[in-house]
Amino acid sequence: MPFSVEYQITQYELEQGALEIQYIEEYFGEFPRKKTAAEIVNRLEGRSHLILLATAPLPDDPGSVVPVSFKVAHEVGVPEIEPKLVDLVHRLSDNIQFPGRRVLYTWIGGTRRDWRGQGFFRALTEQQELWAIEHGFDEIVVKTKNKFYDMRGTLDHLRFEVVRYERNGADNAESKVYLSKKLLPEMISRHRSKKAVVQSPV
Ligand SMILES: CC(C)(COP(=O)(O)OP(=O)(O)OC[C@H]1O[C@@H](n2cnc3c(N)ncnc32)[C@H](O)[C@@H]1OP(=O)(O)O)[C@@H](O)C(=O)NCCC(=O)NCCS
Repeated sequence: MPFSVEYQITQYELEQGALEIQYIEEYFGEFPRKKTAAEIVNRLEGRSHLILLATAPLPDDPGSVVPVSFKVAHEVGVPEIEPKLVDLVHRLSDNIQFPGRRVLYTWIGGTRRDWRGQGFFRALTEQQELWAIEHGFDEIVVKTKNKFYDMRGTLDHLRFEVVRYERNGADNAESKVYLSKKLLPEMISRHRSKKAVVQSPV
């Protein structure tokens, strides 16, 4: 891993962040249904959330800096009212303790293909953990599918633990895998990525 790299990370406020995420998702051919800015605003509005984006220069035009990796997370609590999150909490109720704790759900994220394997997602994940610990969160939860091998491998490296597996009877590749990481302040000292973080708008 390129330990000497300083990752450039921007934390966005809601409206502008939603537009940035809508834009970067266009570069992900593998996402079947991309989120619109309106959907993102709708999900995040009124709940604690974090929109992080990493930028990097284009290899053949270093003067142009582009968004290359992103991570969007929000709080999930009890009671929930949004139907998809009611369902999520219900499914995880035997695996994750929600009452009396703050749980951050990593909703969407990824790195553009040409920039994969360069530590961008680790840098965003470490920044997310730092923010979550500073904001009093106890645990980070994420959902993926068996068939998302790159994401599963990455979450393994980032020390997420499987907390639930939901088998899809017709096609095991479509089975859902839920992972989590309990947050402890001492984790921060084990972070490896050098980062420059700015808020937008500044
Ligand atoms: C998964 C993904 C986000 C990884 O992003 P990335 O920027 O390449 O990840 P990083 O370079 O920061 O790697 C983080 C760690 O994961 C490991 N890793 C990255 N890709 C991996 C892979 N395909 N298999 C196994 N490990 C992998 C890295 O070695 C690194 O570990 P280390 O720091 O201990 O060396 C990226 O491949 C992606 O966007 N994939 C498509 C997204 C997707 O499948 N989404 C489905 C919905 S969940």
